[in-house]
Amino acid sequence: MEKKIYKIAVIGGDGIGPEVLAEGIKVLNRTAELDGSFAFDFTYFPWGCQYYLEHGEMMPEDGIEQLSRFDAIYLGAVGYPGVPDHISLRGLLIKIRKSFDEYVNLRPVKLLKGAPCPLAGVKREDIDMVFVRENSEGEYAGAGAWLYKDTPREVVIQDSVFSRFGTERIIRYAYDLARKEHKSLTSISKGNALNYSMVFWDQIFAEVGKEYPDVETHSYLVDAASMFMVKDPKRYGIIVCSNLFGDILTDLGAAISGGMGLAAGANLNPERKYPSMFEPIHGSAPDIAGQGKANPLASIWSASQMLDFFGHKDWGKKLIDIIEEMMVEKKVLTPDMGGTATTEEVGDEAVRLLGK
Ligand SMILES: NC(=O)c1ccc[n+]([C@@H]2O[C@H](COP(=O)([O-])OP(=O)(O)OC[C@H]3O[C@@H](n4cnc5c(N)ncnc54)[C@H](O)[C@@H]3O)[C@@H](O)[C@H]2O)c1
Repeated sequence: MEKKIYKIAVIGGDGIGPEVLAEGIKVLNRTAELDGSFAFDFTYFPWGCQYYLEHGEMMPEDGIEQLSRFDAIYLGAVGYPGVPDHISLRGLLIKIRKSFDEYVNLRPVKLLKGAPCPLAGVKREDIDMVFVRENSEGEYAGAGAWLYKDTPREVVIQDSVFSRFGTERIIRYAYDLARKEHKSLTSISKGNALNYSMVFWDQIFAEVGKEYPDVETHSYLVDAASMFMVKDPKRYGIIVCSNLFGDILTDLGAAISGGMGLAAGANLNPERKYPSMFEPIHGSAPDIAGQGKANPLASIWSASQMLDFFGHKDWGKKLIDIIEEMMVEKKVLTPDMGGTATTEEVGDEAVRLLGK
């Protein structure tokens, strides 16, 4: 049988981005070696804030065209002091998500065995949800205006964009996932205050739901939804929400399920017309960059999501098992998890456990 070669574009980005990706790449290579039926071909792109300071742009003009030739993108983190965050985020991360129509942002919030949890009275099995975050429009559409700039009459307008097409497709994706996984589906919105966008969202959620009578549904306002994530997380299975709400709530999700060093996200183009992108959801952590302290487990988890997406679900699960094993043993962990190991040592341990 001919070996399948996955072509992966690697954008380490800034700060701890390249450090944590290096460990994920080690793990992916070892997985391929053990399996034998596939291999990875990694191509590295030096794009990010340093690139911006040298070239005046976060990636070259034909960057998207270059990336379009890959099967997937593996991204570290973007953003660093010295470059405004809205430039770094919009010039790279959001540009890729939009150009490749990665309209699903899939973020698991699951308390793994051995992971620290700050909530009292919550069992491990109680925290096991998956966020389906709309990733292509909504509050992050970039629509708006800055009028009379730098004058006393200054006015800024930041518009949210909710199209029927965009809203229906993300909600349908979430229903399909809930049906496939036999889980409930919760829609999070804010229809009482956002009287156009979120009333529309709620309406589409109900409309699409008619095609899925077998799926148990709930609909919460975002304020109550965040309270329940802390007080009663077991009520959640699959969650669907807008770009902004998903961004904020998944950081809360990370906080209740082991911290930022353990939170992964996949930016999917489900039709596979364009490459999907896999990333730890944390930022570039300038406070610990270059010190070997960054936790690479989130990037290993996102590698597991990549394996799932390529259809290697057995390996995807194996990577999660290994992360759990390391957290239960508590021997080789980075300082954020109470350990003393370096980023590289954690990656090496994951590779060792894979081959065990
Ligand atoms: N997806 C992305 O690329 C992304 C996401 C969020 C923030 N950012 C950017 O990153 C920069 C820093 O942002 P921030 O400080 O708000 O968030 P951050 O996630 O970089 O850091 C928040 C805190 O969590 C810690 N932390 C994060 N990841 C860790 C890891 N893997 N191991 C151990 N500790 C970890 C940091 O040390 C810091 O104390 C900004 O420029 C921001 O715009 C990028």
